[in-house]
Amino acid sequence: MTAITIDRVARAFGTVRAIDEVSLEVRDGEFFTLLGPSGCGKTTLLRMVAGFCDLDRGRILFGGRRIDTLPPHRRNTGMVFQNYAVFPNLTVGGNVAYGLKARKVAAAEIERRVSRALKLVHLDGYGERWPHQLSGGQLQRVAIARSLVIEPEVLLLDEPLSNLDAKLRVEMRAEIRQLQQELRITAIYVTHDQEEALAISDRIAVMQGGRIEQMDAPETIYRTPATPFVAEFMGTTNLLTGAVAGIDRDLVRIRVGGQEFVARSAAGAPSGGLITFSLRPETLRLLAAGAAPPPGWASLTATVQRVEFLGVLTRFDLRLADGAVLRAASLDLLPDGLAAGRPVAAAYDPARVTVFRAP
Ligand SMILES: Nc1ncnc2c1ncn2[C@@H]1O[C@H](COP(=O)(O)OP(=O)(O)OP(=O)(O)O)[C@@H](O)[C@H]1O
Ligand SMILES: [Mg+2]
Repeated sequence: MTAITIDRVARAFGTVRAIDEVSLEVRDGEFFTLLGPSGCGKTTLLRMVAGFCDLDRGRILFGGRRIDTLPPHRRNTGMVFQNYAVFPNLTVGGNVAYGLKARKVAAAEIERRVSRALKLVHLDGYGERWPHQLSGGQLQRVAIARSLVIEPEVLLLDEPLSNLDAKLRVEMRAEIRQLQQELRITAIYVTHDQEEALAISDRIAVMQGGRIEQMDAPETIYRTPATPFVAEFMGTTNLLTGAVAGIDRDLVRIRVGGQEFVARSAAGAPSGGLITFSLRPETLRLLAAGAAPPPGWASLTATVQRVEFLGVLTRFDLRLADGAVLRAASLDLLPDGLAAGRPVAAAYDPARVTVFRAP
């Protein structure tokens, strides 16, 4: 097991600051995810750790040892690439053996380790097959076996599931997580899929424009996003800006158009001016118009504008008196007769509203 220190690392391509002074610590045995939109620098940062991309500034250490000055093959990392790049002209066994042959490992040892790696990814007996005879999920496992066979200290995975269909992605992400836990290997995982990141990570760094916006456990990132960008990127939210209308102990009243929202903000909000806040759709509970909200909750009156039944949940667009639209989502327990055009009350717990410092 190995902790990874990334210390004030930077890299520019021409005028693009692909990585702009990033510092982070990945703990021993941690499953750490870099999450962010296309072009935010995820692959660049991962390649810096692997040794395929030079640093302009900064240092990278594995367990206190500086490694950014070493060539890739001396860093002891296993990497699964964005488009898994299994060699089509080698058998499954040949693909997995590749890194060991390059390292001049003895033939008998290669055979033993390849067979163990294939077993780990549930491909025992597939050594003689050719890549074109495998499914997407199996190819993905070959790529993972190939990265694990060298017994790396650190496993680096760059969108390893992006070529798979949705159902297989969900299966494979659980397998990758389980394998990482079994091997107790430190892993950095790159994805732009927020659900995938939430599902498998110990911690997530949300990146934008070559910088880290927030670094926290999945629940914290989702429940208390640090910035409006993180709130919007992690799922769906209602991002609203309004004027502070008053503060009553830890409750802030915020006026948006004709409506007043209430947020609980222990950190204290500014006593005046504009603030931006996030209210997730699933925190709104829909009640019959006029019904009292649960104790301590706030409530809005709205008209249902649109209902979208998605099976596991139902989404709603709610129109407020001033025409603004709020998104709501519900698993079940909808009031009778709830349909487009009908009035409704939307209740929420002010503690579930996230207030941001500046608009
Ligand atoms: N070799 C390169 N030459 C020039 N620009 C590059 C190079 N590699 C990356 N970039 C630029 O650096 C930025 C970060 O790219 P990077 O590949 O790290 O993004 P990413 O977060 O992995 O995106 P994606 O989700 O699309 O894979 C982008 O603006 C990209 O165009
Ligand atoms: Mg990438």
